[in-house]
Amino acid sequence: MIEVGTGVRMGRRDVMKASALLAASAWAPVATARDTRDHGARIRDLLSRMTLAEKIGQMNQIAGGRQKALNSRLDAGMLDRVRRGEMGSFLHVAGAEPLRRLQKIAVEESRLGIPLLFAMDVIHGYRTTLPVPLALAAGWDPAMMERAAALMAEEAWAAGLHWTFTPMVDVARDPRWGRVVEGAGEDAYLSSRMAEAQVRGLEGPVRRAGEPPAKGRVLSCSKHFVGYGAVAGGRDYDSADVSERTLHEVYLPPFHAAMRAGSGSFMTAFNDVAGVPMTANEALVGGELRGRWGYQGLVVSDWNAIPELINHGVAATPAEAAALALRAGVDMDMASSTYADHLATAVTADASLVPLIDQAVTRILTTKARLGLFDDPYRFGDAAREKAPLARGTARELATRSIVLLRNEGAVLPLKPAARIALIGALADDASSALGSWRARGQTEDAVTLRRALPQATFDPGTDPAAARVAASADVVLLAIGEDYDMTGEARSRSDIALPGAQQALIDAVRAAGKPIVAILMGGRPLALERALTNIPAVLQTWFLGIESGPAIADVLWGKVSPAGRLPIEMPRTTGQLPMSYAHVPTGRPANPDLAVDSARYHDGAIGPLFAFGHGLSYARFRYSPLTIEQRSDAAVISVAVTNDGSVKADEVVQLYVRDPVASVARPIAELRGFGRVALAPGEQRTVRFTLDHAQVALWKAGKWVIEAGAIEVMVGSSSADIRQRGRFSVAAGEGTVPAASIATLVEVV
Ligand code: NOJ
Repeated sequence: MIEVGTGVRMGRRDVMKASALLAASAWAPVATARDTRDHGARIRDLLSRMTLAEKIGQMNQIAGGRQKALNSRLDAGMLDRVRRGEMGSFLHVAGAEPLRRLQKIAVEESRLGIPLLFAMDVIHGYRTTLPVPLALAAGWDPAMMERAAALMAEEAWAAGLHWTFTPMVDVARDPRWGRVVEGAGEDAYLSSRMAEAQVRGLEGPVRRAGEPPAKGRVLSCSKHFVGYGAVAGGRDYDSADVSERTLHEVYLPPFHAAMRAGSGSFMTAFNDVAGVPMTANEALVGGELRGRWGYQGLVVSDWNAIPELINHGVAATPAEAAALALRAGVDMDMASSTYADHLATAVTADASLVPLIDQAVTRILTTKARLGLFDDPYRFGDAAREKAPLARGTARELATRSIVLLRNEGAVLPLKPAARIALIGALADDASSALGSWRARGQTEDAVTLRRALPQATFDPGTDPAAARVAASADVVLLAIGEDYDMTGEARSRSDIALPGAQQALIDAVRAAGKPIVAILMGGRPLALERALTNIPAVLQTWFLGIESGPAIADVLWGKVSPAGRLPIEMPRTTGQLPMSYAHVPTGRPANPDLAVDSARYHDGAIGPLFAFGHGLSYARFRYSPLTIEQRSDAAVISVAVTNDGSVKADEVVQLYVRDPVASVARPIAELRGFGRVALAPGEQRTVRFTLDHAQVALWKAGKWVIEAGAIEVMVGSSSADIRQRGRFSVAAGEGTVPAASIATLVEVV
């Protein structure tokens, strides 16, 4: 495997290059999704020769194995179905050699020789397991996210895969939802940048019509369209009842950004939005995505979601469910065989479905053509590269960059070289959890745990009273706490996200030893830890960091690297505060610390999160100069000089927020609209320049993006709760064309 990129951290030039790319993608015309025209003649010809059964076969995606037993269902009967043209795609399959053999059957032994599409969930690594997506998002560095995606793509490509169901671009403001681990957190702007970075890493730069992807790139799938992160109570698969405005301003923007970056496929979500299941949502899939947005790529259902329309109560029979999904614009049926078994019946009852089938098949064949599969069905897969060594260097660097220092009172960190260390907590030695919830071909034995990375520490998994004894004989206690890998992910919603199990008792026992404690939080979601972290002076959020977890955490503990990750989603104090976001709208009675005043808060807890969105500390200190704001006719250019006043080299994540203080509707008290992760040597100063288009402050009103005339407040700082400088600019009335949060700010570091 080739390491993607080199060096310990991104240089200034890379930041600029990444920003320029972001800016370019922001201004690409809306319908840049892969062009269909170049392959039109070939596909029309093929379509004219296909039987209805062969067409429906293309719309059928079947599991060729199980997630943990890939290829296991590829028996003789299944291969015969391929020969008969009953399959368009397989998922849960992998391996250069087996997939080559399977493709050969489709190409040489089926009547029309149409190549198959091979798909798999490669979510944060194929063999080299990287940090989970939420952790990568905590790097606040799209270039780093792009490198992660490119590495995943390369390994998946080597294994013969064409397609991965990544990125998950669902905004999530309720971490009870277990799938929060797979996304980029609570913010539409940050999620948009991470979405486009992943698409670029997976698919490569947007290509010209007719140009196949470069070797090592695969088809991305932006999911789950839409509102999946808004499910009621954070319960996976439940209903989402979001307002039009929130849908357009918060949940849809990352999909638009992914589309403009060239994402070749989308997956519909399991949930309904305001009663209309997304698998049958003509207004949002057919109307918004395909109509207004002009999306031309392939749309696949989620697993078994078509027959589940019957459970939703919007279809009475599988044939009705198939017709509803087809009408909504779902081209391919994942895993349920409902199209395969019932679409022909539906057509008999309603001939108007026939052109819709042709359209769906055209999109599927176009996707195959655009991957170059008609020219060379074997261009994916390389058995020799499949066996290349793991990309440990990249894995460690990305893991280190994902760590967030939440608290560091009395400069407990970095650790002093001679300190006697107690390492307590089973998670410190849990290689399986280091890999996180999806693991593709990742192997537990490849993961280096914190225990292995700190052989000098005295380890105790957390048995009482042994743990207290170990703590008492050390100078400092590293306490690994949180959730294991199986507590987040699909169908892993929890009603209480305080510390699970007996860990609170463990903390209390260790605290009684009176030694300084560094809490090392592991898990795939922000937990509600107000009580657990009381009187703990140092706290590191380390998520699930992949195969190089231990060495990466050790790099930060010893100060080899100054931590610079930031929370992509805030950490509540208690579960009862959820859902929450820093970007809430102001009320008539804003939360007041004085309980005698009736205000928008809980009576039994403090106001706001335990740790804010964008929060993350450093071993250095940064000073921000006052802002300079240049007013242009359609943009504002905001510059701030940032100086490293500390004594170590460190990155600072400079964040820009906006607020429209007076508008026709209440606007969020702050919205992220730009950020840059900047590396600064001690004493070094750099100027970060944000170019913000006026369309980035547009609001969704009556079906349009409206820019209302007036003043816009600008806040620049180190987190949403640590604003260092403020300013204002004004905008004239106008209209936007794309979701405001999906537009990338040009960020230059000079
Ligand atoms: C269901 C999940 O919701 C989706 O994200 C995933 O890609 C499919 N299963 C396939 O495994």
